[in-house]
Amino acid sequence: MIMPNVIIKALKDGPLLVEVDKKTSVTLCRCGRSQTQPSCDGTHVKTGFKAEKSEIKVTE
Ligand code: FES
Repeated sequence: MIMPNVIIKALKDGPLLVEVDKKTSVTLCRCGRSQTQPSCDGTHVKTGFKAEKSEIKVTE
């Protein structure tokens, strides 16, 4: 069975991008202010959300 390549990227001052096989599959809010939870709606820009970037690979 071939496992997909999954990477979760926390963008600087922004949401979590979940990438599956190098394509963004979902953008998740991590500022808590989105009106379309759990998705990011861009509100983090208006509220001045600050957070560091990071990245993890999901493996078996
Ligand atoms: S990260 Fe919360 S609205 Fe974008």
